[in-house]
Amino acid sequence: MSEIRGTQAVRKIDPEKLPRHLAVIMDGNGRWAEQRSLPRLAGHQAGVESVREVVRTCRELEIPVLTLYAFSRENWSRPPWEVRALMGLLSRYLRSEIRELKKNGIALKAIGDLEKLPQKVQDLLVRTGAETATGREMVLNLALSYSGRAEVLQAVRHLIRDVQQGRVEPDLIDEPLFSRYLYTAGLPDPDLLIRTSGEFRLSDFLTYQSAYAEIYVTKTLWPDFRKKDLLAAIGEFQNRERRFGLTGEQIREKKTLSNR
Ligand code: FPP
Repeated sequence: MSEIRGTQAVRKIDPEKLPRHLAVIMDGNGRWAEQRSLPRLAGHQAGVESVREVVRTCRELEIPVLTLYAFSRENWSRPPWEVRALMGLLSRYLRSEIRELKKNGIALKAIGDLEKLPQKVQDLLVRTGAETATGREMVLNLALSYSGRAEVLQAVRHLIRDVQQGRVEPDLIDEPLFSRYLYTAGLPDPDLLIRTSGEFRLSDFLTYQSAYAEIYVTKTLWPDFRKKDLLAAIGEFQNRERRFGLTGEQIREKKTLSNR
């Protein structure tokens, strides 16, 4: 029954107005567990099921890129047992999903300061990335040990090196060129950014790339976030007018011209 309801809800989504890149701040695992008097780890474990459902739904809708904020640079300051548990969950997820990703043409990528991750996790990311690299239907991008500001700084460092070595002309540095130095090089900027658990913060997630992202905040805690919640977010996104600094009138004119 829920599958049927889900299918009907998918039909309400306009395939012409899908986000090209959906970014998600998965928040509220700890509170979900607390509300049930369970250890925090139970919240993270339940959150993995939401990850599976969101990946499946994005693939079904044909959303080309999904980025999940799975572990921030600041998350390293959590108690060591929680960091270990999250790394363990991530490893298990990668091992268990590789076949499903391959079958569905989903290429796995990871962004962030990946060298800080335990060697075992790094190896699994490299292996899963290599084995799914031919996937053309969707990119599943995991932000791990990630900080948007750190990403911009490493881009600046690499860019300066290329200028010093004469590979880049400073006067020709523009936004498309700078984007090539970001972890997300080659991927479109996020059009829709969802944050669960009701907090109105970006938390240093895709800081540069989110300049024009539509932000959708839901009170739903991540482990409760299901297909219907994702469809509600996309439905709202499709009803918003994205102006990119133009007036409503200019946007309507542009639409009329492009429909001619
Ligand atoms: C935020 O909830 C969530 C995280 C820091 C980790 C997200 C990780 C998962 C969903 C599982 C593993 C990921 C993958 C991709 C398999 P919180 O702990 O900050 O919640 P709280 O704010 O309620 O305490």
